Amino acid sequence: MVKENNTLFVIFGGSGDLAHRKLYPALFQLYLKGSLNEHFAVIGTARRPWSHEFFRAGVLENLSDGTVEQRETFVEHFYYQSHDVKDSAHYVALKRLIDELDAKYQINGNRLFYMAMAPALFGTIADHLRSERLLSTGGYNRLIIEKPFGHDYESALALNNAIVGTFDQDQVFRIDHYLGKEMVQNIPFIRFANPFLDAVWNRDYIDNIQITLAESLGVEERGGYYETAGALRDMVQNHIMQIIAMLAFPRPTKYADQEINQAKSQVFASLPVYTPAEVATKFVRGQYGQDIAGKQVAYRDEDKIEPTSTVETFVAGEVDLNLPQWQGVPFYVRTGKRLPTKKTRIDVVFKADTSQLFAAQQPVNPVLTIQVEPESGIELTLNGKEIGTSSLIEPHQSQYLLNADQQKQVPDAYERLLLEAVLGKQGNFAQWEGMAGSWHFVDAIRSAWAQEPTVDFPNYQSGTMGPKAADELLTKTGRHWIYQG
Ligand SMILES: NC(=O)c1ccc[n+]([C@@H]2O[C@H](COP(=O)([O-])OP(=O)(O)OC[C@H]3O[C@@H](n4cnc5c(N)ncnc54)[C@H](OP(=O)(O)O)[C@@H]3O)[C@@H](O)[C@H]2O)c1
Repeated sequence: MVKENNTLFVIFGGSGDLAHRKLYPALFQLYLKGSLNEHFAVIGTARRPWSHEFFRAGVLENLSDGTVEQRETFVEHFYYQSHDVKDSAHYVALKRLIDELDAKYQINGNRLFYMAMAPALFGTIADHLRSERLLSTGGYNRLIIEKPFGHDYESALALNNAIVGTFDQDQVFRIDHYLGKEMVQNIPFIRFANPFLDAVWNRDYIDNIQITLAESLGVEERGGYYETAGALRDMVQNHIMQIIAMLAFPRPTKYADQEINQAKSQVFASLPVYTPAEVATKFVRGQYGQDIAGKQVAYRDEDKIEPTSTVETFVAGEVDLNLPQWQGVPFYVRTGKRLPTKKTRIDVVFKADTSQLFAAQQPVNPVLTIQVEPESGIELTLNGKEIGTSSLIEPHQSQYLLNADQQKQVPDAYERLLLEAVLGKQGNFAQWEGMAGSWHFVDAIRSAWAQEPTVDFPNYQSGTMGPKAADELLTKTGRHWIYQG
């Protein structure tokens, strides 16, 4: 029996894309599964002057699953408050609605504020929530915020300071939706629930780890934002760093939020701050040009993009953690737009046997692959004997992929993370210390690149796995990318 949670959600940016496409459908799944039932309400706020009915109709349009009756009963819990977050007077009306709904649905003061809007407004909202006394004194007050969390360490710190005047760190839930993905959450289970793997999960047995977050789409309609971000900020600082932490954190004393976050913070604290010379040898940037058929436009010809833009749509690099367990083990990372297919996967490349026992033939590196998306599962590639009378070595591969029925049971990342925030579970949210460490890492790369503004962009064709230099990062050490696209 799923336990119902009493929560009042206040969604700032309630008329926006994120709210409609991700948050309301995710809340509906929680409702269908019983995590939300009678004692909840959702207030959407934004400037446009919508009525409750108009708002509900828009929410309804984005719901699938369930019966008509379930969908209609669910949206009856939705209310709209027209509100400019910069106008103090508007918070009075919002407070009145919050108090009214808290009483109506017997929520007992549990409040979850979601900032689904531009980060520049987070500080204003947080200040007003405190000064206009919208925080509950009875139940909990929690804040969920979205990326981008700053564009460098300084701006992230300013954003953090703007929030922590109102909310304690343990009340702030920083969404990184990669931490809500089934196979990313599975990483610690694969590592620690298999003692034989746990025993070899270190520099003695692992040669390198490869993380690929490939997107097949280009910049689409996000050109304006992307010109201020680039792949390093958009994908590496957050998602890739969080995945590295999941792969590298030392065994916690207990599988509980605080212990997990403490263990992860050791990884973030061990991130290097590369010198420009190190950046030049360890990181590669790229920008997509047309595809071979000339059908897809180059990044520089996309809408809202400067024709001479030096913004990178591709990054590959080597992250060396300064932790004894990982000394000498490069974490190779790679992300880009307009790559051949959308794919997130992790390849843990184990050391090859160098004993010369099989003198005639050198065994290759065994690999554990974690498929994150679109498939979810694990693959293990081991060395074995060729079938028959030969004593030659060949790769044996075993695969566990979720089937279509299992995939259907996998909750969407937002559904999972919203529930964890409602339950007050911090283990799958980005913490400030981690964010600070990964910004320092990324800032050093940005600053090295800024000193060399002339780049030979575009330097990879749409539909390929990025510039040649990304392959050379590995081949120069005798390695190669396991995933070839
Ligand atoms: N969309 C996604 O899939 C996604 C994914 C990850 C992160 N994010 C991040 O989430 C945030 C929201 O993204 P989005 O795509 O939903 O943007 P959006 O569609 O432009 O929504 C922005 C919302 O903010 C409201 N707003 C703007 N200024 C306001 C003000 N002064 N007072 C009150 N409301 C105001 C807008 O409504 P009014 O114009 O009616 O005021 C609208 O509801 C952004 O920071 C984005 O980077 C989005």
